[in-house]
Amino acid sequence: MELAGKHIVLGLTGGVACYKGAELARELVKAGATVQVVMTASAQQFVTPLLLQSLTGRPVATTQWDTTQPNAMAHINLSREADAILVAPATADFIARLAQGRCDELLSLLCVARPAERCGLLVAPAMNREMWAHPATQRNAQQVQQDGAVLLGPASGSQACGEIGDGRMLEPLEIRDALIAHFQPKVLKGRRVLITAGPTFEAIDPVRGITNRSSGKMGFAIARAAAEAGAQVTLVAGPVHLPTPWGVTRLDVESARQMHDAVLPLAPSHDLFIATAAVADWRVQAPSDAKIKKVAGQGAPVLAMTENPDILAAVAALPQAPTCVGFAAETHDIERHAREKLQRKRLQLVVANHGPSTFGRDENELLLIDAKGTTALPAADKLTLARHLVAHIAQHHPCRTPPSN
Ligand code: CTP
Repeated sequence: MELAGKHIVLGLTGGVACYKGAELARELVKAGATVQVVMTASAQQFVTPLLLQSLTGRPVATTQWDTTQPNAMAHINLSREADAILVAPATADFIARLAQGRCDELLSLLCVARPAERCGLLVAPAMNREMWAHPATQRNAQQVQQDGAVLLGPASGSQACGEIGDGRMLEPLEIRDALIAHFQPKVLKGRRVLITAGPTFEAIDPVRGITNRSSGKMGFAIARAAAEAGAQVTLVAGPVHLPTPWGVTRLDVESARQMHDAVLPLAPSHDLFIATAAVADWRVQAPSDAKIKKVAGQGAPVLAMTENPDILAAVAALPQAPTCVGFAAETHDIERHAREKLQRKRLQLVVANHGPSTFGRDENELLLIDAKGTTALPAADKLTLARHLVAHIAQHHPCRTPPSN
């Protein structure tokens, strides 16, 4: 219920993506929002107000000449109630109208009438790729952003017209998550954050390997929370089956050495490094190029192991090191082991938890351990904990300024 208590005006304008707008309305309701739909005349060519009313439980507003409103000022009433206005889909024509500040139909009228300092305007373009690429549309899209709107997308891919390119509306769940992010405090605005997550996979031969039980959920939640807080986030992920959080750039790797080689060149240009990955401490010294066959009477193969590089310690030792946050998954003496790790790896913060009770779960509880003391974050879902962690870092560990080049 991430949008509980929020009143959202959802505007639909006339494009094929109106069918996704209807799905979005449902997702926003499921997330706890009160959704007031406003449709332009063209949107009503694609889907009916009846459908949107059924999905949201509220009559759809379609005209500024609504005499059922006691003051006959639908545009004022709708925009004063709203915590945000979300236009999805937004056509090229609607974006042009917004850029000009036109007020001759209800949706553009209430966008202009909104109290901008407390009611954000988010716009999800949806159109053919040539229409999106047209200089007029690009100019208008820039203008609406300069005027304070947030543009969501568009995405690239196959289009209703059969062409392939930029202009697809984002998926309803991506738009929902962007709206949730919009309401989070921007405590890491302008910061660059690098995060490792998930397990690593160390090959034995082309079909076998050594890995661990890390699901990556905590690291992905932290990546999402950092992006919601306004940071530019790069997530280096081991093999996990998790969707990339909204607004996060993701690099997939497999082994500890691949993770090390991806992270080290990126680290100096980041303000903050959060190492959540469960990196394998050892790898097989000489993985076989061919599948190791079972031969009767020869017994089990003996695998010689060698140590993997410590990614976190290597980043913390860089001359241009970002603020470094490590994780410690322990089974006993959690605080003592974590404090030892803080000093040994020369970190600013260690996030400690009880390893076996967190792997793969959606909930966790954490201890935040730094030179000044220990802060306990009580049991909660991983996204809630991630948001608290991000707030704690922003407050207690101001990021070092990255080099200007
Ligand atoms: N880490 C890393 N590279 C490694 C190993 C660990 O970046 N090769 C990071 C992890 O992402 C985590 C922290 O270091 O942030 C964990 O430290 P580590 O010493 O590996 O702790 P554990 O393996 O959990 O425990 P221990 O060493 O105490 O057995």
